[in-house]
Amino acid sequence: MTYMDLKKILRVIKRNPRRLLDATRQRITGYQPPIGKACITKLEIKTLQTYAAKAKKGIVEIGVLDGGTTREMALVADVPIYGIDPLIPDSMDKNLQGATKIIQHNMSFYKHFFFFQAYSYDIAKKWQKPFDFIFIDGDHRYTEVKKDAHDWIPLLTPGGYVAFHDAAPVYSEKSEHVGYDGPITLINELKKDNTLTYIETKDSLAIFQKK
Ligand SMILES: C[S@@+](CC[C@H](N)C(=O)[O-])C[C@H]1O[C@@H](n2cnc3c(N)ncnc32)[C@H](O)[C@@H]1O
Repeated sequence: MTYMDLKKILRVIKRNPRRLLDATRQRITGYQPPIGKACITKLEIKTLQTYAAKAKKGIVEIGVLDGGTTREMALVADVPIYGIDPLIPDSMDKNLQGATKIIQHNMSFYKHFFFFQAYSYDIAKKWQKPFDFIFIDGDHRYTEVKKDAHDWIPLLTPGGYVAFHDAAPVYSEKSEHVGYDGPITLINELKKDNTLTYIETKDSLAIFQKK
């Protein structure tokens, strides 16, 4: 290696230390950095991970997209994760559409990940597996998100948690996202539902516990 090569490498490291870290981890452990799109703030990731880490039976995610949020949960979870998504254009942003190959890449490190390329309401009809955390981030229109709550909360283990995305404005980062009408209306209704206890809202993520 010449002096010029070394200088070039040092310049790359200085500009992008993250790339070097990822490349070294990839060499040593087979780690693959995530790819694809995800729509979540750092505070929401931290909150999702708090509840994913508490799960003792299983985690369901409705609306996987590219597996960005699934992966964040998998980094701290130690239970099966069931992801459900028909991989259609997103109800609020038609430019967002997930892909199986990207999901497989992002989740390849987690052996207990099970993906269902299907609609949540179809999977709910024959669901048998126990789970104590569900992240609802699928179709955000009021009737559809309400149907997800109606279909899946009865299947959630008592004491388990349910998180709704896009149910309030983002405040922790510079963002114009104020949430979507469907989840906002629904969580206001659920705050009065006596089968659930409202726990907290962090950015657009609202959490309830099943009694
Ligand atoms: C906003 S994206 C999910 C984002 C993902 N949780 C993340 O942040 O990385 C919404 C996804 O919901 C999916 N979807 C729409 N209707 C659905 C349904 N009935 N059941 C499951 N997923 C659905 C769409 O295909 C889309 O990929």
